[in-house]
Amino acid sequence: MTKSAIVLAAGHGTRMKSQTHKVLHPVCGKPMIHHILDTLEELGVDQTIVVVGQQREKVIEAVGSRADIAIQEEQKGTGDAVKAALPKLRSDVDTVVVLYGDAPLIQAKTIEGLFKMKDSEQADAVILTADVQDPTGLGRVFLNHQGHVARIVEEKDATPEERANHVINTGVYAYDRAALRMSVEELKNDNAQGEYYLTDTLAIIGDKGGKVVPLQVENPHEIASVNDRLQLSQVEALARQMILQKWMRDGVTIVDPGNTYIEASVRLSPDVTLLPGTILAGETHVASFATIGPNTRLVDTVVRERAVVQYTVSVESEIGEEAQVGPFAYLRPGTKVGARCKVGDFVELKNTVLGDDTKVSHLAYVGDAEIGRDVNIGCGVVTVNYDGEKKHRTVVGDGSFIGSNANLIAPLTIGEGVYVCAGSTVTEDAADDAFVIARTPQTTKPNYVRAWKARRAGNQPTVKGGEAGGH
Ligand code: UD1
Ligand code: CA
Repeated sequence: MTKSAIVLAAGHGTRMKSQTHKVLHPVCGKPMIHHILDTLEELGVDQTIVVVGQQREKVIEAVGSRADIAIQEEQKGTGDAVKAALPKLRSDVDTVVVLYGDAPLIQAKTIEGLFKMKDSEQADAVILTADVQDPTGLGRVFLNHQGHVARIVEEKDATPEERANHVINTGVYAYDRAALRMSVEELKNDNAQGEYYLTDTLAIIGDKGGKVVPLQVENPHEIASVNDRLQLSQVEALARQMILQKWMRDGVTIVDPGNTYIEASVRLSPDVTLLPGTILAGETHVASFATIGPNTRLVDTVVRERAVVQYTVSVESEIGEEAQVGPFAYLRPGTKVGARCKVGDFVELKNTVLGDDTKVSHLAYVGDAEIGRDVNIGCGVVTVNYDGEKKHRTVVGDGSFIGSNANLIAPLTIGEGVYVCAGSTVTEDAADDAFVIARTPQTTKPNYVRAWKARRAGNQPTVKGGEAGGH
């Protein structure tokens, strides 16, 4: 069997009321069309054709080199869309699966089931059906006495009795190529919507003595489709559930699945623990025995073994093994936290590398910096990296100690084993082993305050602003 897939994505998606094409709307962080292309790649079809029409440039861009493109100039119905794809079919293809771009949850093994059924039944077409509680808006499937598909009636064309049928067309079909070509040519648009319905091909094939069999989907969640924003949120919820269940089956502890969000592109290892309020997005990878959450959002972030990350936002960053990050840390793009580091509360790191065993325990901003191993960055330290025009780098060598509230005015290089005193404003580089103190010497006036207050009470003129005297 040489297989092609035709994915229909030419329609307006009018009911979405969106400037974005329907198939480009993300479900769990991934555009619907990519869900389908991923599934087809997993399935391993020999050729995929995406039919585009409305807003085609963006759809073509999203498809990239992953499929051939066919153009349906005018949206005259699903049957007409398939017709537009037929000239693009590779000559050696004998079986064609047709899918709609607005049903992103279909699984590879379900499509595989259609191929198997087509083979074992020697059928001209197999259609995936579902028995649903609420069939509103969907095509109803009617069988003949042999149990083969006789016809599909769209809701808009159905009588009240026909609407009472809860067996619906999911919009996934496997066709014999010749039967598809023949039946698509014969389609008419004499129906309520004036469209060429793909669904009519099944009756045409049957009327010509062909065999069309139904296959009922095992998990009806897979065939949920998106026509408006409400359905988008429902499909999002189903996709989210499928992703969470997959990771739990693969050994991830998810304490509160109702309050955990994992995008389709995320990768987790067994024995990861996700606490409530965890949001994992993009190319985020979490290694074994790491604990994420509560209330943590990681985007494109790599977390290594046994790290603990809580109440944190991290974007395009890396967190080393056994590191502790948070509560209330913010890691901005380009940050790499070494093994066993501690990044504590109200710490912001940007484009910064922390060597192993380094601590930034509280209230600090470290940006555009390269901090060595075993460094202690005190409370309130700020790398002053921006002069209003340009960003400058700060380098701190291994084993150095930066006292609380120090300002490191970049560009600045501090060597290894340097000791910077608390409150210093450091403007000059310091070599290895240096002791740096850069603050105004203290003035203490002994036995002073009571006399000063008395002078002030006696209406003596004081320095402007009532200061306790200058120095
Ligand atoms: C379709 C089926 C219906 C089925 C339902 C399942 C038909 C006639 N009806 O109805 O039986 O129960 O899906 O979700 O097939 N498209 C084009 N060109 C067109 C028209 C549509 O490419 O001219 C594309 C759309 O972009 C969309 C897909 O085909 O991705 C389905 O079209 P849609 O209008 O959503 O069909 P439904 O009314 O949902
Ligand atoms: Ca639809």
